Amino acid sequence: MSSPTITLRASGAQLSAAAGESCLLEILELHDVAVEYQCRSGYCGACRLKLLKGKVAYRQAPLAFVNDGEILPCCCMPLMDIELEI
Ligand code: FES
Repeated sequence: MSSPTITLRASGAQLSAAAGESCLLEILELHDVAVEYQCRSGYCGACRLKLLKGKVAYRQAPLAFVNDGEILPCCCMPLMDIELEI
């Protein structure tokens, strides 16, 4: 199975997940995409990003507040190809 492609709307970059990452934030960091974060475990909401297309899955339901259409990359993984507003 090929890994999902992560498209970044602002830069047009397309990234794909390698085998070892455990969350979307790690995938972005591996590709030198700077994302704000603090707790890296779904509590603070600092890493919040807008998801334009696709779906992600959380390891555990995050405690931080997210609006519709937003995701917390520190604790989710893409389930399919996704597009982010960064
Ligand atoms: S870094 Fe705190 S919720 Fe993602």
